[in-house]
Amino acid sequence: NYYAVIMAGGVGSRFWPVSTQEYPKQFHDMLGTGESLIQRTFNRINQLIPSDNILIATNKRYEDLVLKQLPKTTQQQLLLEPAMRNTAPCILYAALKIYDQNPEAVMLVAPSDHWIENETEFLNNIKTSFDATGKDDILMTLGIQPDAPNTGYGYIQFEQNSSVIKKVKNFTEKPHLKKAQEFLSSGDYLWNAGIFVWSAKSIINAFKNHLPEMVDILDDGNNVYNTDFEDDFIKSNYEKCENISIDFGIMERAKNVHVLPVDFDWNDLGTWGSLYNKLEKDTQENAIVGAKTIFRDASGNMVRTQNGKKVIIQGLNDFIVVEKDDVILICPRKDEQDIKQISAVAKEKF
Ligand code: GDD
Ligand code: MG
Repeated sequence: NYYAVIMAGGVGSRFWPVSTQEYPKQFHDMLGTGESLIQRTFNRINQLIPSDNILIATNKRYEDLVLKQLPKTTQQQLLLEPAMRNTAPCILYAALKIYDQNPEAVMLVAPSDHWIENETEFLNNIKTSFDATGKDDILMTLGIQPDAPNTGYGYIQFEQNSSVIKKVKNFTEKPHLKKAQEFLSSGDYLWNAGIFVWSAKSIINAFKNHLPEMVDILDDGNNVYNTDFEDDFIKSNYEKCENISIDFGIMERAKNVHVLPVDFDWNDLGTWGSLYNKLEKDTQENAIVGAKTIFRDASGNMVRTQNGKKVIIQGLNDFIVVEKDDVILICPRKDEQDIKQISAVAKEKF
């Protein structure tokens, strides 16, 4: 009864110039391990869930990329979105499709682009969550111990008690900095890892309660899923869905949210800086993916090159230096958040 949905429809614009709309970060070997992020995610999950039960939700334009990178995946396992509508619609689509295959199914919903260090621990946490959601009508998320007032995450306040799985009192998606600081210093909040577990039945019920229009659009009542009519149905209806994340649409509103606090080393690899933090460094704290680089009087740099291109960096500290095809980005590490705008400028001017 175990299923998984890997969400792979994001663009990752803060990883420009490597990540682009045509070829986003989840399809790149960001860590220099020989596998793309989505391949790592698939293989991690495949240790617990049979490959036939792993669905990939992504934009239609990445169809060929997914099939090429995940050879165990067939056309039937792809959920191809004709328009970008954020995570709520793709999760409802997946839940309806899975429920049609198996009304008893429990499903893991996982992003395609995270770093997870201790896989055994992660898989044990998922098993624990599967057991709980197979029995009870609850929505589960994994909670990470926060260490900074990061405003890009969801914050979870939970009931302090001795049980392993805690009932959630409040879920606040992407709070303002002041709120995030309050949450952090109060000590009883966790970050939402964005990794969810529930039964197909429970999440469909949650959509009926909190986003009923979306259910009206995607549940045609004619058992269209897993038939020859599914593609056409999605092509003509998916776009009508509200553009909203699962976090704002369901997690902030539902009353049956639970959290499993987890211990594995987690990073959502959102920026060059977060990647830098996870990579091995030389004695001068320089991190390299790719080529031979010689550093002279240079420290704290994040360097990535292609095709064995050699680089010498002298007298430069705390910079991102990235080469991709005919583009080179040189940007202070502290300005990593600006790369989203930089990518927009490049698109317009180059
Ligand atoms: N299929 C599909 N379609 N996938 C999508 C879409 C879409 O329209 N939009 C985003 N995704 C994928 C992304 O590729 C990523 O793997 C995942 O869904 C989460 O989307 P993000 O856009 O990265 O979300 P976020 O990082 O802002 O916030 C979420 O993750 C945080 C942890 O990393 C939330 O769940 C936060 O609460 C959480 O703290
Ligand atoms: Mg993210």
